[in-house]
Amino acid sequence: MVREVLDLLRAAEGGLLLDGTVGLGGHAAAWLAAAEGARVLGLDRDGEMAERAAANLAPFAPRFRVVQGTFAEARRILRECEESRADAALLDLGANSVHFDDPARGFSFAGGPLDARFDRGAGETLAALLARIPEEELADALFLLGGERHSRRIARALCAERRRAPLRDAARLADVVARASGGRRGSRIHPATRTFQALRMLVNDEMGHLERGLPEVVGCIRPGGRLAVLSFHSGEDGRVKRFFREGARAGRFRLLTRKPLLAGEDEVARNPRSRSARLRAVEVAEGVEA
Ligand SMILES: C[S@@+](CC[C@H](N)C(=O)[O-])C[C@H]1O[C@@H](n2cnc3c(N)ncnc32)[C@H](O)[C@@H]1O
Repeated sequence: MVREVLDLLRAAEGGLLLDGTVGLGGHAAAWLAAAEGARVLGLDRDGEMAERAAANLAPFAPRFRVVQGTFAEARRILRECEESRADAALLDLGANSVHFDDPARGFSFAGGPLDARFDRGAGETLAALLARIPEEELADALFLLGGERHSRRIARALCAERRRAPLRDAARLADVVARASGGRRGSRIHPATRTFQALRMLVNDEMGHLERGLPEVVGCIRPGGRLAVLSFHSGEDGRVKRFFREGARAGRFRLLTRKPLLAGEDEVARNPRSRSARLRAVEVAEGVEA
C-alpha cells in the first residue's frame, strides 16, 4: 500500500520521514523519489535488513541514513542522529518476506534452526524459548498472538516432544504442530502458520515494542506532522486503533482514517500478504509537545 502511505503522509511536500521499519527500503525509496528535498531516517531491528536497505537506497545518497535499532527507542536514535523532529513517520509492522524466504533465519516451517529473532545479536532464540516456557504460557501465546484454536493441544504436544529431545529444527516443529492440530484439511494455510506467527511475535516481544513504540514515535514527529501504521495482525491493529482514538479524544491527534484502509484487489493478487494489511494514520495536533 505504498501509494496510500505516500498520500496520507503528504510525500509530495518532502521533509524528513522517520521510517521505523525500513526493511528493504521500499517505502523509503518511494518517499525519497516523491520530492527533491525529501530525506529518510530508517530504522530496522534487524542489522542485516538495515544493510540491505542502505544498499537499495544508495542512489538517493546522501538524503538518507539507516540505523539498526528498534522504533521503541526512536527518540534516542533521532537525538543520536542529530535530527530534531520528523515531518512524518511510518511503521510497517511484522516480518519481511526475506525473513520467511531464508531458512537460516528460522521464521518459516520449511526447515532450519529455530531462531526467529529480528536482531540476531540479542535476546533468546526460539529454540531457547521453547526449551523453558511453561505449557500454559505457551498455550496462551498461541491463542492470543496466533488466534490458534487448538492452542492447548499444540502446547501439550510441543511440551511432550521437548521431553523426548530438544526442539531445534523448524520442520520438526511444524510436523509436531500439524499432527497435534489434526492436519486441518481444506484450509488455505499450513496448519503451523498460526503457531509460527505467535512464536515469532513472542520471541521478538512484538506487542511490547509496539506498546512502547507508538508514543515513542509520536514523540519524534513535529506538530502538524503525520504518522501511518500498517499492521498485519488483528491484535496489533487493535492496539493502534485504541492509541489513535484515545489520542484523538484527548486532542493530541486528528484521525486521518476513521476506518482502516485495506489493500485493493490488484495488490492482493500481486502480494497475497497484503490481504490482511490494515493502514491507519493520524496527524499530530499543532501545539502538542510530546
Ligand atoms: C514489513 S517489513 C518493512 C518493509 C518496508 N516497509 C519496505 O518497504 O521494504 C518490517 C520490518 O520491520 C522490522 N522490525 C520489526 N520490528 C521492529 C522494531 N521494533 N523496530 C524496528 N524494526 C522492526 C523487521 O525486521 C522488518 O524488516
